[in-house]
Amino acid sequence: MSRSFNSESDCSPSQIRALEFFSGIGAFSQAVLKRKAAPTLQVLKAFDQNEHANRVFSANYGHTPCSVNLDSISAAQISKGLSASASLWWMSPPCTPYSRRGKRKDVEDPRAVSFLHLLDLLPQFLPSFLFIENVEGLENTRMEEHLFECLEKSRYSFEKVALCPSQFGVPMLRPRLFYMAWLQPACIKLPPLKAVPESERKLAAYLEPSEPVVLLGQEELARYGNVLNIVDPEQPEARAICFTSGYFRCRKAAGSLLGGREPVRFFSPREILNLLGFSKSFVLPADLSLNAAYRLVGNSVDVRSIEYLLSGLMPEGAFT
Ligand SMILES: C[S@@+](CC[C@H](N)C(=O)[O-])C[C@H]1O[C@@H](n2cnc3c(N)ncnc32)[C@H](O)[C@@H]1O
Repeated sequence: MSRSFNSESDCSPSQIRALEFFSGIGAFSQAVLKRKAAPTLQVLKAFDQNEHANRVFSANYGHTPCSVNLDSISAAQISKGLSASASLWWMSPPCTPYSRRGKRKDVEDPRAVSFLHLLDLLPQFLPSFLFIENVEGLENTRMEEHLFECLEKSRYSFEKVALCPSQFGVPMLRPRLFYMAWLQPACIKLPPLKAVPESERKLAAYLEPSEPVVLLGQEELARYGNVLNIVDPEQPEARAICFTSGYFRCRKAAGSLLGGREPVRFFSPREILNLLGFSKSFVLPADLSLNAAYRLVGNSVDVRSIEYLLSGLMPEGAFT
């Protein structure tokens, strides 16, 4: 397949236009905002059906995601209102169909429909770059097989990368798979991972001592103490374990709590955002309930991992 980079629909050396699907609170847009290197990126449009997520997104990025069910979005709805088409698609589809904690119904799970549908629409758009984020459980599933077939059919080159914030010096374990695909002559080539300053490594550095906190009651501590992961933030080796959307509501395997010298408490949503690499200027609307805030941050993506992936974009290859 031969492709030209002269039309409006393709990437220019200075700017890549992107669409963010399953945008949630916009970890991809956050990485785009934080990114200073060329080529610059612009998120033209985001898509999510969750009204709380869309409110948070809109408070931070100056545009409101298209509130639509991606199970059945049409090609026309994707393009609607865009003066130019996008050369990069970012997708974080629901992970429950493949999650080791779930039933693993894979492509049979109704929550897999949106991802399958977007893959069906892909040949109509053929963005130069495609990124997909998901849990490690997606590996060796029928969905992964289907994804590879779709990419091959559309002549994409692709790679799978496993990343965890701990690789960027962040004291949190949140391993995720990232699939990156590109249409030549564009390319994605990841640089070696950089070492981070020692000071960023202690969990205490990510906490917000002046914020109100939610303590775990003594009764609950006695009941669930043996299944909870309670970490002392002052210990140099302390690592927070992956926060899920069930953090705060479920007690088992939903993320670490803080202990040590202080009474046992939950990480606050702001502290989870700090660990995920969201900037200090990122806001959660004051009227968002605590439950909704926990659910949204627990569903989000490590921003540093996305920044790292974006550092490998090489549209320049098209112009040599
Ligand atoms: C794993 S989260 C992704 C979070 C996001 N990447 C972020 O940075 O916060 C999945 C998101 O997809 C949205 N979603 C799930 N199924 C959807 C569907 N059928 N249509 C539209 N949005 C959907 C959810 O509301 C949720 O925000």
